[in-house]
Amino acid sequence: EVVKAINGLEKVVLREIHGSSVEVYLYGAHVTSWKNEHGEELLFVSSKAIFNPPKPIRGGIPICFPQFSNLGPLELHGFARNRLWTFDDDPPPLPPDITNKVFIDLILRPTKEDLKLWPHSFEYRLRITLGPGSDLMLTSRIRNTCPEGKPFTFTFAYHTYFSVSDISEVRVEGLETLDYLDNCQKMARFTEQGDSLTFESEVDRIYLSTPTKIAVMDHEKKRTFLIRKDGLPDAVVWNPWDKKAKAMVDFGDDEYKRMVCVEAAAVEKPITLKPGEEWRGRQQLSAVNKLLDA
Ligand code: BG6
Repeated sequence: EVVKAINGLEKVVLREIHGSSVEVYLYGAHVTSWKNEHGEELLFVSSKAIFNPPKPIRGGIPICFPQFSNLGPLELHGFARNRLWTFDDDPPPLPPDITNKVFIDLILRPTKEDLKLWPHSFEYRLRITLGPGSDLMLTSRIRNTCPEGKPFTFTFAYHTYFSVSDISEVRVEGLETLDYLDNCQKMARFTEQGDSLTFESEVDRIYLSTPTKIAVMDHEKKRTFLIRKDGLPDAVVWNPWDKKAKAMVDFGDDEYKRMVCVEAAAVEKPITLKPGEEWRGRQQLSAVNKLLDA
């Protein structure tokens, strides 16, 4: 179902038979809502989010491609999040053993203008699948379609903003003992010492070569988000805290208390695709209203 949403931008609504749902804007292939079977919203979107190109939408799941952060010549987090994607109305089917799932495919190909910024032809197919238990799976397939036979290299993240009740009651598990690059300290490398990660000030870190499963526990709400990832070795954790929050025009001053970004990513070792090659990177999210271990 494609419907007109804010500012005439189009969004697709996916509904699963048990009542969960997902909303995706064609602008950025941006997931802006993920609700469980009780109708509870699981993603954070700022009340000040600007749904107006070229500004990316603040919250939900922005796609960072072909560049994560400012680690290259492109605009922050690349251009995929502020381009209009197309809806594929005749996508390849799900494998026959997968039932009870609804999905959509969105496609991004570079325009002439994009090729001036980043001179590489590609086809990016994002499949968004919603399954029983409100499981939300995002699968990116990026193919090098360069005719002259040049490889290209990119970094990537699913910049997921989880909705939490109080950041001081949030723990992230699964990152213990790992090395990380700290973006608050000029990308210096540190080793995580704590049993789990908690938040008392700005956090902006790239955890390197993490396990495939990470848990975000909201102790106040008694909710656990599980992130499973494939093809995405790293994990970014971000909370802007009060000062950065105030500096962002599309983010409320106190909203940092109600969100945390935990992002399946490929940053430290950029991905290289030769002509004709395809890369696949998948993030699967689930949420349960109890506290689980990672
Ligand atoms: C995070 C980065 O992933 O995204 C931060 O690590 C950045 O450094 C944040 O500030 C938000 O970026 P933007 O472009 O959406 O404001």
